[in-house]
Order: sequence, then structure tokens, then C-alpha cells
Amino acid sequence: MVWVRISKSDSLLFMFLFALPLRCLQATQESPHVYTREEVRSHSSPETRIWVTLGCEVFDVTEFVDLHPGGPSKLMLAAGGPLEPFWALYAVHNQPHVREMLAQYKIGELSPEDKVPSTLKTSDPYIDDPVRHPALKVNSQRPFNAEPPPELLTENYITPNPIFFTRNHLPVPNLDPETYRLHVVGPPGGQSLCLSLDDLYKFPKHEITVTLQCAGNRRSEMTQFKEVRGLEWNIGAISTARWAGARLCDVLAKAGHQLCETEAHVCFEGLDSDPTGTAYGASIPLARAMDPEAEVLLAYEMNGQPLPRDHGFPVRVVVPGVVGARHVKWLGKVSVEPEESYSHWQRRDYKGFSPSVDWDTVDFDSAPSIQELPVQSAITEPKDGETVQSGEVTIKGYAWSGGGRAVVRVDVSLDGGLTWHVAELDGEEQRPRKAWAWRLWQLQAPVPAGRKELNIVCKAVDDSYNVQPDTVAPIWNLRGVLSNAWHRVHVHVAP
Ligand code: MTE
Repeated sequence: MVWVRISKSDSLLFMFLFALPLRCLQATQESPHVYTREEVRSHSSPETRIWVTLGCEVFDVTEFVDLHPGGPSKLMLAAGGPLEPFWALYAVHNQPHVREMLAQYKIGELSPEDKVPSTLKTSDPYIDDPVRHPALKVNSQRPFNAEPPPELLTENYITPNPIFFTRNHLPVPNLDPETYRLHVVGPPGGQSLCLSLDDLYKFPKHEITVTLQCAGNRRSEMTQFKEVRGLEWNIGAISTARWAGARLCDVLAKAGHQLCETEAHVCFEGLDSDPTGTAYGASIPLARAMDPEAEVLLAYEMNGQPLPRDHGFPVRVVVPGVVGARHVKWLGKVSVEPEESYSHWQRRDYKGFSPSVDWDTVDFDSAPSIQELPVQSAITEPKDGETVQSGEVTIKGYAWSGGGRAVVRVDVSLDGGLTWHVAELDGEEQRPRKAWAWRLWQLQAPVPAGRKELNIVCKAVDDSYNVQPDTVAPIWNLRGVLSNAWHRVHVHVAP
């Protein structure tokens, strides 16, 4: 459930505010109606109207349900009851503008004897989250989402575990490695597996360097163009690690699965879940999962260490070349299904749309779920607004492409794209069709005499000659995913 800032100018909200039932408005102006918790409970469907409580206040959110940014189903979880347990989970709600918006729907107050809901005593679901590195730039504390600052991002080819970007949708589960079991559902008539960590260690250990990128990386640049819904990631929702574990194809084969002809999918379920027990989930096509060359891992090591808790301890999926959302952490269950995962994050999120699609017209079923990501690059040094010395400037950054496509070139311009230099590619040479990891790059270029400022731009080219679009406008989409326009940094030149 995600509530994001909806500006006063948002036409939807305005339409709704004006369409508010008169009795609601009257109720907020006159002495408040008093309701029992029992009465609130009986309003939990569109037929009876949908009421929720926050503290001692009662709200009729029937008209808002369809406008809820996290989807109607998420708001319906709170129907007839208190919002607190959900707001505790999705702390982004607990902000003045969200409270202000909610206030518009107030219809009364709880009767005095009902005022302290037992659910208010719900313990903090994030109390057990791990301690994080102070260098991380936090985009949301609960659930925890954070990225390394640009200057640290390309300091090392392999991102150190403590500053690897973190994208959590829910509290971090605290799993006991002794009792941990991975359930792998067998084919019809076959046998399911229930694997302990020791059982997983018995499969051949496979180790690969893989860059993981969130679909929302660089979303903040889309927001600058036009508002989108989502966390404000800068250029750091991407990191690289050396992962080790069992190959998914070996585990699936052990359970008796084969690559059949039907369009099947491998569905993953995490052990992190919301108050209704709904787990994080995602899926990838069976063909990728069964292909030994695709090197999909059930990883238990990250840079030679057991996975850190934030990154999926004790076992996560690593799908080289594929969007971060499919790399399911705290893996609990694997099954082969005729259809994609029914998870919200597979079907109602992480999809791309035309710039003309808005929240009134979006049809999530009409777009494929994001799997392989497009070519990407960004400048990590110098920083936007910095002052560089005249003479020579050093520019650094990263470049990566999805689907195992190798970055073959990074072009850098100091004049906004009028003229170009070719950057030097550093970092590990990548294998053809298995270029799972990024290339770091740098360029030392003379600062043209007399220039007071530089408009530095970078763009990468992959081995399919895919290039990045020059501006955000034609790729803008309402969720702010797949943001890969030329990266631009404006700097001043010291006199
Ligand atoms: N797996 C679970 N179980 N829960 C999650 O919230 N987030 C996904 C994916 N796997 C997520 C998950 C998303 S959207 C991304 S981008 C990556 O994990 C981020 O992995 P990281 O936090 O290790 O960088």
C-alpha cells in the first residue's frame, strides 16, 4: 500500500472532492457523529460503503478506493478497521499531506469506549530490521530503501555489501538458517523438494558477477519532467556483486522439471509478507530458468559472505540481465506454473507504458512485465552543480545493459551533446551474451579554453547497438520505470 503526494491540482482528487457525498461534508462541519467499532466493521464493502479509522476518527473512503495509488486491493485490507497496522508497515502514509487528504473523508468519531483500538498496540513490524550503513542515502525508512551516494558507487567495481542499494517492500524477515527450508514444488505426479541450506550446498556451487538494477533507478529525473508515483531514486539503484549458489536449473531438474513446450513460468515467493500473509512474489519464464547458460542462481553468498539480511539471507534468486524485481529475496517457495506470478509486483507494477497513459487510463494487463532491462549509463563524477578545475576534467561513471548484452562504447560530451569523446571502459571484460555485470568508465578531457560551465552528458551503446534516448519526455511513464535517457550533469569551471 503506497500513498504518495497527490498535488492539489490533481484533477482526479478534485473530481472526487467535489463528488464527496454531502453528508460527509456536513459531518465534518457539525458536531461529529459517533460510531462504535462494531458499526465501522460493518462497512467493509462497496455495497455497505467502506469505512476505516485512524486514532479516534472515522472515515468513509468508498470513493477513494479506486484512486488509491497502491491499488484498491491494498486499501481494502483495512476496510472496516483501523489504518494503523498498515501505516506502520508503509510509513510513507504517515505524513501531513496524506493526513490532510484523509481528513476530507472524515464522517465522525469512535465512541469513547472504543477509542483505543487493540490494533494500535501492534508492535512495530520494522523493529527487527538490520542496522544499516550511514553512507546510504535513504529514500524510505519503512520499508527500507536506500542507495549509495554517486561518489561511492563507482569507487569499486564490486559494490561492498554494506553500501549495496537496498529495495525492500516489507519488513526484513528474521530467518533461522537451521530451520530454513526452501520448498520446490515438483511437476504433476512428481516429487516436491524441501531443501535445507545444507541440501542447497550439495548442488554444484556456481559463482558469477552480476549487476542488479531496480526498474526505478533514476526515477527522480522522470519526476523532474512530470510527476510520477514511486520512490525518488537517484542514479544509485544499481550495484554489482559476486554471487554464489546453486543453479536454479539444477534444482528444478532435481525436482523433475523439464523444459516443456508450453509457455510456463517459474514463480518465486519470498518469506517477507504483509499483515494478511501476502508474500512478495515474482516470476521469470521457465525457458530462462532452465537454461544453464542463463546462469539463474539460488544464491546464498554475496561477495564471499553469507547474504546480508537486507539482501535476502539466507537464500535469494539472482537472475542475470533481468530487472531487480525478479531477484526474489528470502526465498521460500519455487513453483512452475502455466501463468506468470499473480503477485502485485508482477502484474500491477514494474511495467512500462506510453507517456500518454495516466492513472485513469492505465491497463496493467495490456503491458508485459519488465524482464530484461534496456541499456543504461550514468555519470558518478563530477556531481551536478560542482565546480571543476580549468585545464582537464575527469569524468567517471557506470554503464550496463540487460539480457547479457555487453556495453561496447560510452560516449561523453562536454557541450550537451554537440561533440563527443569516447570514454575508456574499465572493470571486468564481459563474456559475449553473458555480460551480466556493468563496466565502469572514465574520461580525461581538456576543458575548452574560456568555458565557464560544462554540460556533461553520457550515453552507452550495447552490442546490439541499442542506444539510450536523449531525453526523458518520450520515455516518461506514470510509474517512472525504465528511466535511461542520456545522463546530464551541469558543472561550473573554476576561473
Ligand atoms: N524480494 C523480496 N522477497 N521482497 C522485496 O521487497 N524487492 C525486489 C527484489 N526482491 C524484493 C525482493 C526489488 S524491487 C529489487 S530492485 C531487488 O530485490 C533489490 O535487491 P537488493 O535490495 O538486494 O538490492
